[in-house]
Amino acid sequence: MSFHYLLFLFFILNLFPFCFAENDTVSCPLNFTILRPALPNRPQHNTTSECHYLLQGLRLVLSDYLKRTGLFFPPLNTSESCWESYQSLLPSFNIRSSCGLETDWISQGCKNLTTTAEFEASTPNATLNDVVLNCNQSLHGSACASCVRSLASLQALHSVNSSIANVSDCTDYPFIYAAAEANYLGPTDEDTAYCLFSIDFSNGEGKKKNVNLGLIIGVAIGLAVFIVGFWFVYRKLKDSKKKGRDQIGNLENNSGLDSISESTNLVKFTFNEIKMATRNFAIDNIIGRGGYGNVYKGYLLDGSEVAFKRRLWQCVQRVLT
Ligand SMILES: *[C@@H]1O[C@H](CO)[C@@H](O)[C@H](O)[C@H]1NC(C)=O
Ligand SMILES: *[C@@H]1O[C@H](CO)[C@@H](O)[C@H](O)[C@H]1NC(C)=O
Ligand SMILES: *[C@@H]1O[C@H](CO)[C@@H](O)[C@H](O)[C@H]1NC(C)=O
Ligand SMILES: *[C@@H]1O[C@H](CO)[C@@H](O)[C@H](O)[C@H]1NC(C)=O
Ligand SMILES: *[C@@H]1O[C@H](CO)[C@@H](O)[C@H](O)[C@H]1NC(C)=O
Ligand SMILES: *[C@@H]1O[C@H](CO)[C@@H](O)[C@H](O)[C@H]1NC(C)=O
Ligand SMILES: *[C@@H]1O[C@H](CO)[C@@H](O)[C@H](O)[C@H]1NC(C)=O
Ligand SMILES: *[C@@H]1O[C@H](CO)[C@@H](O)[C@H](O)[C@H]1NC(C)=O
Ligand SMILES: *[C@@H]1O[C@H](CO)[C@@H](O)[C@H](O)[C@H]1NC(C)=O
Repeated sequence: MSFHYLLFLFFILNLFPFCFAENDTVSCPLNFTILRPALPNRPQHNTTSECHYLLQGLRLVLSDYLKRTGLFFPPLNTSESCWESYQSLLPSFNIRSSCGLETDWISQGCKNLTTTAEFEASTPNATLNDVVLNCNQSLHGSACASCVRSLASLQALHSVNSSIANVSDCTDYPFIYAAAEANYLGPTDEDTAYCLFSIDFSNGEGKKKNVNLGLIIGVAIGLAVFIVGFWFVYRKLKDSKKKGRDQIGNLENNSGLDSISESTNLVKFTFNEIKMATRNFAIDNIIGRGGYGNVYKGYLLDGSEVAFKRRLWQCVQRVLT
């Protein structure tokens, strides 16, 4: 019971990390939960690669924010809670200190460009149309290549005077914009995320969690089957031992031979009847000696001649008449 309760709590905490990481003064408007399935796929062999992946993940989250609000970055007064929100997904890796990022940078964009409208106004229509033409599709293989090529011209327009911010600076804006505004599948699409941010949503944590859940259930069922099976075998062994003892005991007590199965068509004799038929197993009634016991000749009350084999806790059979 308590195990189930803990498991339940564990899942609740996993499903809603942002509920517990929020600074309740100004909550972060970014949704970092969308990144959760891609985080186990980050490179972890060196800090440079890991930081690059996490920064790209942040840009993907900003793109999701742009799609929802038309804003490229969250207000400065939420920057602390946004880092905390991101950090809550990676308890063992301090993102800001490990990657040399400052709190304010999350709220600084390219030049003065804050909204989608401002960005589009500062860009020639032909360039934007080209971007939509190439990027508004599933960004798989060659489609990704042509989208990235069209973004390069957009990048060239904005890269001259970058702002001081380097979380989402002018070179990143075209990608953040394209994933949010020029691709109908949005930044959380597996191909879009991989093409524009090198973020890997494939075989994410969701699937792993299911595998783990499957494993837990599998082990539980296996254990239950094993215990039930063990119990049956134990009971069977115990029963057969008891039966064995009973057969020996009952033969001497004349009361038994009950162990002859009811389902067979064998005739059941009491020990007394057999004793009478063989004249108490008289030596001169022995007609054969086998490895398992002697065979006795006998006469039943109806006069028919029979042979009995006497074995230790074995049944008596009517062999011939
Ligand atoms: C919210 O964040 C600010 C800035 O880091 C911090 O000073 C404050 O203590 C936080 N409040 C809560 C309730 O955590
Ligand atoms: C964040 O994204 C997740 C996954 O797409 C979604 O289920 C959740 O509702 C979103 N949360 C907010 C506050 O938008
Ligand atoms: C980290 O790994 C990347 C390749 O994955 C490599 O290019 C880079 O030089 C490495 N950096 C360090 C500091 O080892
Ligand atoms: C945070 O900043 C935004 C815009 O900069 C402002 O509209 C909002 O009132 C601020 N919130 C708080 C709690 O200060
Ligand atoms: C940015 O905004 C300031 C004032 O708000 C303005 O003086 C400056 O020209 C703007 N820069 C660009 C590149 O739009
Ligand atoms: C560019 O597009 C906007 C709106 O989409 C339109 O108002 C503007 O006239 C267009 N400019 C040119 C040069 O086509
Ligand atoms: C992108 O394509 C979808 C469907 O193919 C369409 O509904 C949408 O309007 C297109 N978006 C743009 C910006 O052209
Ligand atoms: C870049 O900034 C410099 C001075 O800060 C200015 O002279 C130049 O025109 C700017 N270029 C663009 C493309 O905004
Ligand atoms: C980010 O920008 C600041 C200021 O321009 C710079 O000092 C810092 O090295 C940059 N960091 C990265 C990771 O590019």
